[in-house]
Amino acid sequence: MSDKAHQVCINPDCRATYSLDEIIFSCSKCKSLLDIVYDWDRLAVPRSLEFFEHRWGTKGRTAAGRLDFSGIWRFRELLPFVPEDSIVTIGEGRTQLEQNDPLARHIGMKPGKLFLQYEGLNPSGSFKDNGMTAAFSLAKRLGRTRVACASTGNTSASLAMFAHKSDPPMQGIVFIGSGKIAYGKLSQALDYGALTLQIEGDFDACLRRVLQASDRLGLYLMNSVNPYRLEGQKAIMYRVLEARDWEVPDWIIVPGGNLGNCSAFGKAFRELHDLGLIKRIPRLAIINATGANTLYQLVTKDGLRWNGGRYDRATISGLYAAMDESHYLPHTIASAIEISRPVNLPKALRAIDIMNGLVREVSDDVILEHKALVGKYGFGCEPASAASVAGAHMLFDEKVISPGETVVCILTGHVLKDPDATVMYHMGVDMKHATPPPQVTPTGACSNSPKRVPDDLEAICAALGEK
Ligand code: F0G
Repeated sequence: MSDKAHQVCINPDCRATYSLDEIIFSCSKCKSLLDIVYDWDRLAVPRSLEFFEHRWGTKGRTAAGRLDFSGIWRFRELLPFVPEDSIVTIGEGRTQLEQNDPLARHIGMKPGKLFLQYEGLNPSGSFKDNGMTAAFSLAKRLGRTRVACASTGNTSASLAMFAHKSDPPMQGIVFIGSGKIAYGKLSQALDYGALTLQIEGDFDACLRRVLQASDRLGLYLMNSVNPYRLEGQKAIMYRVLEARDWEVPDWIIVPGGNLGNCSAFGKAFRELHDLGLIKRIPRLAIINATGANTLYQLVTKDGLRWNGGRYDRATISGLYAAMDESHYLPHTIASAIEISRPVNLPKALRAIDIMNGLVREVSDDVILEHKALVGKYGFGCEPASAASVAGAHMLFDEKVISPGETVVCILTGHVLKDPDATVMYHMGVDMKHATPPPQVTPTGACSNSPKRVPDDLEAICAALGEK
């Protein structure tokens, strides 16, 4: 297997190649990101996607049954970088695509056109488990025992869970910023036993430090600069297709933070298309929060493009220099995507190129309103995830998405990840600083605050609408 896949530099002027065994997170020649590239002609690739269907219902105790049960590894022929006996799986990726007509109607779309992919249904409650199973499998094969990441919360939760679930267990080490993490996520990292370092700084500072610490201490890095993470995240798209009987939708809409997910989606569709397994590639919309909108600035405002890999690096360094000069710090209620220097930026530009993509930004108010709508009409999601639905609404209003088109919004994290944000929206209070909960003044258009009622049956019936 290892001679049929390599790590390859994404820079077209370099294309340095490294073996899968080499622990390296950027090209040692030019510092660019790395891809996992397969020699498909020498691998057994199914002739059609229907090949995978028989595995969907498996819940077997055999080795193959364990892999079939995973929503990532039942597609193992499409990410063949690790031998089966090294795979670390806990039944991740058994998530759901929901056709949500009431939400579609609410935002003006036709029934049957809007789909929500609930990645919050993963074991740790976010899409990160798709990537972690892949990166942990490689870590196991390479005999690594200490794994580390910087995180706005979900990566750390997922890493911490996979670390203690691995056999043998690994030590999970997570770097989180000061005051920038939702308690649902922090509680997971702590409960799952990760060594948790709270750094005085934001996510970007944490990522810088974990890269340095990993380098010095030989920790195995689990952020999405690890190309195996993105191999696992390709499976989100396989499951979307599977749930639609392999019919390709018109749009995939995803929140953008460190830009790993959108990068993985671009790679997934490029490969499926090149392998002849799909006939067309959907369009991609990446949605930033206004308070953390680097990709929006660069792509939509400044016109930055992939340009065959020879993208204009000066535009990026110019923006970063201006950020430094003004001491800019990103700020959004969608703390998961509060990131100003996304590490996967070049791969995201490539995904935009592959998928004829675009980028929008949405404000915190609009994010929270759409989060409440996903709660009201669906299973709910965390704030960052709702950026995708807010983006769909915006693009539909702009008529970029036309009424006949099918849209899949990726809901990246579970509603219970950040209950403070939810309660704050519905009750109009900052729950972190409110004990006991004060009188409420809801503000949002979709807010649904509790009513205060005396301990009295008459008053209760009146509050319930009895005339
Ligand atoms: N949605 C959620 C819920 C997330 O946790 C993240 C990223 C994103 C969207 C953005 O995804 O980075 O692939 O563009 N969370 C990371 C973390 C950064 O540390 O948990 P992306």
